[in-house]
Amino acid sequence: MKLTIDQIKYIKENRVLDRIDVGHAVSTYIGETETIAYSLFSLLAKRSFWVRYSSEKSSQITELYTVVHGEIEVQYEGKTFFLREGDTLDASNYSELLSFYSEHEVEIFVEMSVDEFETNFKNTELVQRDAAAIERVDGYTYHHCSRIKDYSIELWKKLEQPVERVTKLRWGAYFHDIGKLAVPIEILNKKGKLTAQEWCIMKTHSAIGAQMMRNHEVKWLRDSAYIVEEHHERFDGKGYPNGLKEEEISLEAAIVSVVDSFDAMITNRIYREAFSIEEAIQEIVRGRGTQFNPVVVDAFLKLLHDQQFKWR
Ligand SMILES: [Fe+2]
Repeated sequence: MKLTIDQIKYIKENRVLDRIDVGHAVSTYIGETETIAYSLFSLLAKRSFWVRYSSEKSSQITELYTVVHGEIEVQYEGKTFFLREGDTLDASNYSELLSFYSEHEVEIFVEMSVDEFETNFKNTELVQRDAAAIERVDGYTYHHCSRIKDYSIELWKKLEQPVERVTKLRWGAYFHDIGKLAVPIEILNKKGKLTAQEWCIMKTHSAIGAQMMRNHEVKWLRDSAYIVEEHHERFDGKGYPNGLKEEEISLEAAIVSVVDSFDAMITNRIYREAFSIEEAIQEIVRGRGTQFNPVVVDAFLKLLHDQQFKWR
C-alpha cells in the first residue's frame, strides 16, 4: 500500500511518535502493520544518510522513500539524481548501497518490510551516528567518506577481486578513520605542524579505530576491523601501528591507503591548500613500492586514466 503525501502529512501531525536522534538526523517510528514498518526521517542540512544493501533481500521486500518536504540527492544503482516533494523512490530491489545527501533539511517518509526494518535500518542508524561523529571531528564531508568508499570498491574491481568479498572493504574504507573520535580535536584541526608528542597521539587512531570496530554493537562492522588497523601501514614496513610490510598488509588496507592519501592531497584541509590532481598523482607514483603497494598504484593509475583523470 502506498500512502499519499496528504496521508503522510496527516500521520505526521496527528500521532505521538517515538524518535531516535542520531545527531545528523532524527528517525521517527510511526508504527507498523503485519508486514510494513512506517517511519519518518528528518535529515539535517549538508548531511548524508545511507541504507545498507541486505544480501538476504527477497522479492517480497518493500522499501519505498517518499520526500515529504525538501529536495534530496540520491545515489542509487550507480546513478545520481534528485527527489523532490511528493516523489517516491522504489528501492525494493537495489543491489548496492543506497545513499542520500541534502544541502537543506529534508523529510522522507519510509515504508519498509518489517524484517528489513528490524535487521538493517536500525543498525544502519547506529552506524551513521558514528559516521556523522567522524564528519564533525575531522572536518571531512559526506562526499569525502563516500569517495573513499566508492573508489576503493572501484579499485577492488579493477584488481579483479571477487565482488562477493567487497562488503568488508566497503565498511573498512568508510570507517578507516573512526579512531579519530578518540583524538583530541585541537590535534585533529591544528593549523601548524604537529609536535612529536601530538603525532604519537594522532597515530594511535588506527589501532584505537580497529578496537572500536572489533567491539562495535553492529556485528557486520566487526569484520572490517583489520582494514582500519592497517590503513597506515606502508609497503616498505615503515608504517604503523605494527610495521607490517608487503603482502603482510591486506589488499583491502593497501587499497584504502592509496585512495585515502590521494583524496586527502586533493582536498583543502584546515592546515594546508589542496594539491592539483597532477601533483597528487606524482606523489602517489613517488610512493610506489615504498609507501604504497606497486600493484595497487598501477591499478589506481589505470582507474584514473579510465575516468579521464576526473575525481568526483
Ligand atoms: Fe587515518
